[in-house]
Amino acid sequence: MKLGIPRERRAGERRVAATPDTTRQLTGMGLEVLVESGAGDGAGHADAGYKEAGATIVPELDLAAIDILAHVRPLDPHIAASLKRGAITVGLASPSSELPAVQALADNGVTSFALELVPRISRAQSIDALTSQALVAGYRCVLEAAIRLPRFFPLYMTAAGTIPPARVLVLGAGVAGLQAIGTAKRLGARVFANDIRPASADEVASMGGTFVRLDLETAESAGGYARQLSSDAGTRQRQLLAPHVAQSDVLITTAAVPGRPAPLLVTREMVQGMRPGSVVIDLAAESGGNVEGSVPGRDIPIPTADGTGHITLVGLKDPASAMASDASRLYAKNVANLLALLVRDGALNLDFDDEVVAGACLTHSGAVRHQPTADLLGARTAAAAARQEGAV
Ligand code: NAI
Repeated sequence: MKLGIPRERRAGERRVAATPDTTRQLTGMGLEVLVESGAGDGAGHADAGYKEAGATIVPELDLAAIDILAHVRPLDPHIAASLKRGAITVGLASPSSELPAVQALADNGVTSFALELVPRISRAQSIDALTSQALVAGYRCVLEAAIRLPRFFPLYMTAAGTIPPARVLVLGAGVAGLQAIGTAKRLGARVFANDIRPASADEVASMGGTFVRLDLETAESAGGYARQLSSDAGTRQRQLLAPHVAQSDVLITTAAVPGRPAPLLVTREMVQGMRPGSVVIDLAAESGGNVEGSVPGRDIPIPTADGTGHITLVGLKDPASAMASDASRLYAKNVANLLALLVRDGALNLDFDDEVVAGACLTHSGAVRHQPTADLLGARTAAAAARQEGAV
């Protein structure tokens, strides 16, 4: 079977779905690996490395001729429609926000696997791309803050005087938040963090952070994920967080609730209460934003309440892509490990009794298998039909 590795089409994306290392793993499974020329350039892998690992370099992938397409970013609908019927895709699919592509995959009879849907069970940890990419993002966001902060992170005691360590507050202590805590700690900052899951206090402490305890109910769903706070609890959380935000030199927000837009944790007024020169990094900017007014990919100066300076509000965009080499190394491993479940001796072996295979499958045999996405598509089709009826 032919496995295609494309040059990523989305602007700014530098990651790639296979590295020379994983190419060896994939050819070892009996797959013929075709790499689009230049696919690995952004991640530091030249064509020659793939060739040496056993891949064939092609100027353009012939989408109608490949059996499996492994990708990073969600596929555009026209790519999904150009694949051959019965082809397999493996990659990030952002199902809830890329509905036309999901529809095209289903209509075209493609069996697609979305890495976001891989069940977060121990056996699937080596396939968990949300975790691997959040790890990169959590590390990267601290470096972005450190570069913009006009102060040191660590304590310095010098002959010319003592410089106190920076104070970093991390809101949301999932995979990315915990990495941010560890990275800021390693840079020498004093690190504080808050989350609404009960387990998070111990997790924050294990990374060397100090947990900020708020007089607020915890909010966890059955699967161990956060629940959305009620509107009143959200307001109260913002009120309780305000003094902690005001004392921080760096604020990093990473809060997310599965299947929902990111919760608003910090208002503009709270940002304006920070000291001049402070930096706010909103890692959730692309999914709705934890901080009022953040815009993905932009640094916005926010004047302090007393008008003596400004705070830099950064809406972080594609943080994992900015570290494309290691992000790709982990991502490509996730992809290869999922493919190892789908392929045996060079042939497809789809075992839908395997909860990882079944859970990660987005479309198969012309249908959308992931029920929440199928429901969204149904609602979209019904709304379109109602609009058309209204127009007639
Ligand atoms: P996420 O990206 O969905 O959310 C980030 C963090 O934001 C979470 O810790 C969440 O509790 C927090 N949050 C949500 N609303 C908040 C609010 N109003 N205020 C403060 N914090 C808020 O989370 P991620 O990184 O995907 O991890 C979520 C859970 O999944 C964790 O319990 C983690 O340990 C678990 N996990 C399990 C894995 C496995 O078993 N293979 C792998 C990775 C994560």
